[in-house]
Amino acid sequence: MKDSGKQTAVLSEFINVYFEDGTTMANKMTNLPKFDIIPKHVGIIMDGNGRWAKLRGLPRYAGHKIGANTFKKIVRYCNNIGIKYLTVYAFSTENWKRPKEEVDGILKLLDTYLDDAENYKADNVRTRFIGDVDSLGEVFKQKIKKTEEMSENFTGLTLNIAFNYGGRNEIIQAIKKIADSHKIGELSLDDINESLVSDCLYTKGQPDVDLIIRPSGEFRLSNFMLWQSAYAEYIFMDILWPDFSEKHLNKALEEFAHRNRRFGGA
Ligand code: FPP
Repeated sequence: MKDSGKQTAVLSEFINVYFEDGTTMANKMTNLPKFDIIPKHVGIIMDGNGRWAKLRGLPRYAGHKIGANTFKKIVRYCNNIGIKYLTVYAFSTENWKRPKEEVDGILKLLDTYLDDAENYKADNVRTRFIGDVDSLGEVFKQKIKKTEEMSENFTGLTLNIAFNYGGRNEIIQAIKKIADSHKIGELSLDDINESLVSDCLYTKGQPDVDLIIRPSGEFRLSNFMLWQSAYAEYIFMDILWPDFSEKHLNKALEEFAHRNRRFGGA
């Protein structure tokens, strides 16, 4: 039977209905895995594209291109298994130091992704960008705005794409907002607390990240979600991002479900 976009969208909304135990209709209808505890917010540092390409004698861009496919596959999977928030680190404020050809390649992947955004409507994923996207220029700014607006009422996974993102930068802009409000008498020093700072970050209104996954065998945070990761669990995996699959995510989720999170308590 020929499927219309509308039918797919309706089906997608249906499979993303959440139950109290955190599973989705998709979990219940299919053999998607069910975990005892599922993190509300997962962060992924998509690392290892360059090494993946080098191992094959290819330009680094080739690794990013395959990495972008992995990104799309993992977003869809997270949505289907009932994760509510996913933040992926696509480009940091420090990545401008890379060769121009590589930077242009990543920007091209972003551009293609934004141009294709209409095609992902049926996934029901709410897409947001975090980072200094205004500095990417007017064309990107408008395309990003259009993509965010198009999906703002979608009810599935909320996807944050961290692009031109730096955790320190994010905290600095929060400090500036707070200082400005204080200066004009809108807020007193006593009003400054954790919840106010959280509300001044790009992730305003979202839960802190519970689990950060970094493939590629590196053990660093690299300026990713510095404030939001205060009580995150970290899982470092010895796999390069282009080779990362649903199986690796399942393994990380399985491990997360067995971690004893105390949030500073006994
Ligand atoms: C880090 O690997 C990866 C990046 C800096 C870019 C990640 C970008 C993508 C996966 C594409 C994003 C796509 C969209 C649609 C926004 P690395 O280059 O540092 O790898 P290496 O450590 O092996 O050199």
